[in-house]
Amino acid sequence: MSLPKHLAIIMDGNGRWAQQRHRPRTYGHIKGTRNAKKIIQSCARRGIQYLTLYAFSSENWLRPPTEVLLLMNLLRRYLAREVDNLMKENIRFHVIGDRRKLPPDVLKTVEQVELDTANNTGLNLIFAVSYGSRQEITSAVRQVAEEVARGTLQPHEITESAFHARLETALLPDPDFIIRTSGEYRLSNFLLWQAAYSEFYFSPVLWPDFTEQDLQKALDSYASRDRRFGALNKNESARL
Ligand code: FPP
Repeated sequence: MSLPKHLAIIMDGNGRWAQQRHRPRTYGHIKGTRNAKKIIQSCARRGIQYLTLYAFSSENWLRPPTEVLLLMNLLRRYLAREVDNLMKENIRFHVIGDRRKLPPDVLKTVEQVELDTANNTGLNLIFAVSYGSRQEITSAVRQVAEEVARGTLQPHEITESAFHARLETALLPDPDFIIRTSGEYRLSNFLLWQAAYSEFYFSPVLWPDFTEQDLQKALDSYASRDRRFGALNKNESARL
């Protein structure tokens, strides 16, 4: 049964989960973080090679300061608490996104955990934090323009792969499978370039309730799909 090499998840619905229980939205994020921990471990055990979690978008900075602060604290505390487990589970951690915007203590923890786990060879765990795909693409365009202006890059050298090499995800394979929870059908500025041939799965379950069984259901759906990347599959080609 085929497993996606790179699974990406938009963990949506924490706020609604809390509101349904008449609790503050922040309570939903606390539960959401616990669930992220469980799903990360499950992906590591299943042998998935890359897992990217959309933890905080460029646009999330516009949320109320208390919610932003809590999300930043959750990220820092999750990393500080989990680094030993990440080492035990051979997980390599990496962040994509505009890290210059992160509070200094969060950035310091992120960089320390990236360094500590750099030689691990199991699951590559990527958190998209302060991440926005349009910003990422704009920044790569700027980089290309600067190189052309300096004369170190010729216009005819601007190929898909040369452009890809200037994205933050340069070292990652494109996501094979993107899951979004909470019944929303949007990409919300997540991996726009990279998702060109991704398979999508939308679950009605709110993120804090998304279980390993829900993950299994999504992975079963992925395994049943016929990915053709715009070409024909083997059977179709044989009939020509
Ligand atoms: C979407 O729910 C979720 C987020 C904006 C943040 C996702 C973050 C976490 C799960 C916690 C941080 C993760 C780790 C691993 C430290 P929402 O608030 O948009 O929910 P709503 O759509 O119901 O309002």
